[in-house]
Amino acid sequence: MSSRPPPGLRFARYRRLRHSALLREMGVETRLTPSDFILPLFVCKGLGVRKPVKSMPGVFQLSPDQAVQELRAIEKVGVKAFILFGVIEREAKDDAGSAALDPANVVCETLKVVHASGIRMTAITDLCFCEYTAHGHCGILTKPGAYLREQTVDNDATLEQLGRQAVNHARAGADVIAPSGMMDGAVAAVRCALDAEGFLHLPILSYAVKYASAFYGPFRDAADSAPSFGDRRSYQMDGRRRREAILEATADLEQGADILMVKPGLPYLDILRDLREKVHAPLAAYQVSGEYAMIKAAAQKGWLDEKAVMMETLTSLKRAGADWILTYFAREAAQSLAD
Ligand code: PBG
Repeated sequence: MSSRPPPGLRFARYRRLRHSALLREMGVETRLTPSDFILPLFVCKGLGVRKPVKSMPGVFQLSPDQAVQELRAIEKVGVKAFILFGVIEREAKDDAGSAALDPANVVCETLKVVHASGIRMTAITDLCFCEYTAHGHCGILTKPGAYLREQTVDNDATLEQLGRQAVNHARAGADVIAPSGMMDGAVAAVRCALDAEGFLHLPILSYAVKYASAFYGPFRDAADSAPSFGDRRSYQMDGRRRREAILEATADLEQGADILMVKPGLPYLDILRDLREKVHAPLAAYQVSGEYAMIKAAAQKGWLDEKAVMMETLTSLKRAGADWILTYFAREAAQSLAD
């Protein structure tokens, strides 16, 4: 017989609803499904290329044919969307990032090959210049000698280029356009360019709230997009500023964004929650390369249970307010939900 509390001692017993596995499955507020996930893919020119990214075990630079293989596998486990990043040969990069506007570049080629292969998934394209510029910054640079203390990206000159890049992706078959460069006015410029070419139906997923983060390190290996000088702090946000996230988010909504993203994910859960409480648009969260690398590295050392930590972090993102989750774990997480 179990012991009884002394008479008069009163407290609530929340454990009653955790008492059995059956009860624990009831009243669950946050459930992940494979269609929550979006897989980021790094695509490069060639045939049969599957080049491992050292700092991201399980992630590869893929040629378009290999990207198709990967997508077939994740389509089977119920993932419904992917986002493409182009890996451009050094020789094809210049200061203006002209390769971004080439209708035959690897992102456009992959879109065509994927559509022709009969894969029925939503194709999102990342819209930015850092993978295409020789200097690795996210747009056209300001001219030295301008009244600026630091050389940086010329906002308005870059807007025009972004509009052209968006139309390039739309013509190749992108289903959603995702501007990620943190230029002011990018959503308006992209919307205007898309509409002028008849792509009124294409949604914009805006990287509205993107903090300058050291968690992007492994991505820059994967996409060969590290800046050759300085950093991205004159356009990406400062992690010590919280309220600015709401300003960025509302500005992008006013410019016509359909979905807003917060990035990185776990270190900025409070920001994601702020947005969830203050705007009604759908939200996306990006579990970025460094978040993935940390989990993989600890798991390889046997210090963390990879599968459990993966599901716990993805659940946190959804619980904080994410409707869409960009994650390099998309396939493993969807598989784990099916098991
Ligand atoms: C392009 C872009 C970056 C990421 C997504 N889009 C790199 C950056 O801003 O430096 C990072 C994603 C990741 O770390 O997984 N601007």
